[in-house]
Amino acid sequence: MDMNVFIQGIPKAELHLHIEGTLEPETLFRLAERNGIRIKFNSVEALRQAYHFDNLQSFLDIYYEGAGVLQKEEDFYDLTWEYLLKAKAQNIRHVEIFFDPQTHTERGIAFETVINGIYHALSDGARTLNISFCLIMCFLRHLPESEAMATLSQALDFKDKITGVGLDSSEYGHPPSKFIRVFEKARKEGFMTVAHAGEEGPAEYIWEAIQELKVHRIDHGVRALEDKSLISELKRRRIPLTVCPLSNVKLRVFKDIRTHSFKTLFDQGLCVTVNSDDPAYFGGYVVENYIALQNAFQLTRDDIAQLAVNSFNAAFISQDKKDIFI
Ligand code: HPA
Ligand code: ZN
Repeated sequence: MDMNVFIQGIPKAELHLHIEGTLEPETLFRLAERNGIRIKFNSVEALRQAYHFDNLQSFLDIYYEGAGVLQKEEDFYDLTWEYLLKAKAQNIRHVEIFFDPQTHTERGIAFETVINGIYHALSDGARTLNISFCLIMCFLRHLPESEAMATLSQALDFKDKITGVGLDSSEYGHPPSKFIRVFEKARKEGFMTVAHAGEEGPAEYIWEAIQELKVHRIDHGVRALEDKSLISELKRRRIPLTVCPLSNVKLRVFKDIRTHSFKTLFDQGLCVTVNSDDPAYFGGYVVENYIALQNAFQLTRDDIAQLAVNSFNAAFISQDKKDIFI
């Protein structure tokens, strides 16, 4: 069997996916028209051409602007549904989706409009596409701690719909330690916790995420290699990394896939998972990320199978459910 067919067919989970990052240019145009919003690009092609980034911030500027077309509950529903159809076609059986409420509440969209649209699509997907799901609410780390705390308070009314909380947006200058009290409260309320760390930021931020925020997983974590004792700690505590290779190349964390730290992290026996991050912006969904790694590092079928198993092992689902998938 062809390797790409093998990658496509093997059951997988996706654990690092920003739902706002699945907004394909075609959908952006469609929603802009539906909501009467003017956009500064003349065509889908012109917009796609603009997807060249120098670093994380240059991407975030476009990503937050694009999210402006999401206005009504049905927009969030349609966005999520389109992603689920793509996930289904790639044999993704379980998804853990990030959403950024502050991106929307800051521009006057109600928290419930956002979560209801996303959640209804995920519920329909669980029923009709057989894709199970968790929802993870991310705090925007460039905003003050007080705003994250207010967002956490809003989320308490929707506790039954939200499994965990995370931390995303501009990393430099916004270390995990800025959010110690928010994560402490979130843990007390029963939320699972994750944080982006060591994407652009230093290994020190990964230490802070595990020691001060006590996270269950690290999102990205690709700079962990810079600290041997950190690698030992991640291994000892079996803390998974949700790695997004195409994202890291697009945002110039690595020059190309061949120089990505993935293989070294994987060979050290860390629980590495493969994910797409913001697939509409970075040129590929989960399967394309696996294929890029396979090509660059000559991964074997056993390697691919291990990565797929890792994705379920690292998921926020019960052991019984993992046993069904693995
Ligand atoms: N890093 C930080 N914040 C983000 C990302 C990312 O890769 N994608 C969407 N928000
Ligand atoms: Zn991310």
